[in-house]
Amino acid sequence: MKTIGVIGAGQMGAGIVQVSAQAGYRVLVSDIGLAQAEKGKAGIAKRLARAVEKEQITSADADAALTRIEPQGDYAAFTDADLIIEAATEREQIKRVIFGEVGKVMRDDAILASNTSSIPITRLAQATPDPARFMGVHFFNPVPVMKPIELIRGLATADATVAAVEAYARSLGKTVVHANDAPGFIVNRVLIPMLNEAIFALGEGVANMRDIDTAVSLGLNHPMGPLTLADFIGLDTCLEIARVLHDGTGDPKFRAAPLLVKYVDAGWLGRKTGKGFYDYSGPEPVPTR
Ligand code: 3HC
Repeated sequence: MKTIGVIGAGQMGAGIVQVSAQAGYRVLVSDIGLAQAEKGKAGIAKRLARAVEKEQITSADADAALTRIEPQGDYAAFTDADLIIEAATEREQIKRVIFGEVGKVMRDDAILASNTSSIPITRLAQATPDPARFMGVHFFNPVPVMKPIELIRGLATADATVAAVEAYARSLGKTVVHANDAPGFIVNRVLIPMLNEAIFALGEGVANMRDIDTAVSLGLNHPMGPLTLADFIGLDTCLEIARVLHDGTGDPKFRAAPLLVKYVDAGWLGRKTGKGFYDYSGPEPVPTR
């Protein structure tokens, strides 16, 4: 594998682009337009510059990684890609449209993978040109820091597809785990109910926002409290995953906390919008209630 195509230059897509370029791959990146793809690359340039300042990488390595990243305004060049990773918004309809479009240009020997955090791979496969060459490759945020990658095969995924994507994931220095195509896979099946429960606890007045975060962070030795982590992931993404778990299992224990729905309705989606459970406009995050 030499060339990776990444669709989506947001927080996950840009992370995937960065680690792929640093591992030596040529990386094509697209988003809703060339400007967004360029913006994703600019963010990566900043992160690489910081890594140079901290003497974690040399400036020659940072420059080389950047020259391997090629923002695109459309999918025409994706015909070069050996592996195409979709990391667009966590909405099934958006992903289906993307698969239809990129499916027209991808080569017969190329692999398509989705970084979906919970949508069933077997169902998404129906929107791709060849379900045997399609699977899930789930990275964690922030991608350059987080070690695991969950690999998910759909019903029709070929062994050769899994082997090729596993080799790519290992070449990034990541730890590979295999999950079955069940709602939420492994990590989100466990994580999202925990975050959702913290939001129920907040809504029910069990404790205030800071105390919930402080208690869980220190009590469980997690690097972030659950409300801070929900803001970090994006409240819209948390809600989408909660809904996939609820719909996919039919189990009421996965129902989304009303307060989570309310924050998403308000457009308070977390760090990416400057406000979620906390307001990030000042020097320190301030609870919004
Ligand atoms: N991109 C790249 N690197 C980043 C980063 C980012 N957005 N944010 C932080 N880092 C790096 C820093 O550069 C630093 O690297 P260094 O130690 O090599 O210098 C390192 O991470 C630690 O950063 P900081 O010292 O600034 O801050 P913290 O010690 O507070 O760590 C954190 C930040 C790594 C984000 C840490 O708080 C953490 O691990 N939080 C939990 C993250 C988590 O649970 N992620 C999983 C979310 S679930 C998911 O992604 C699944 C999805 O489907 C929902």
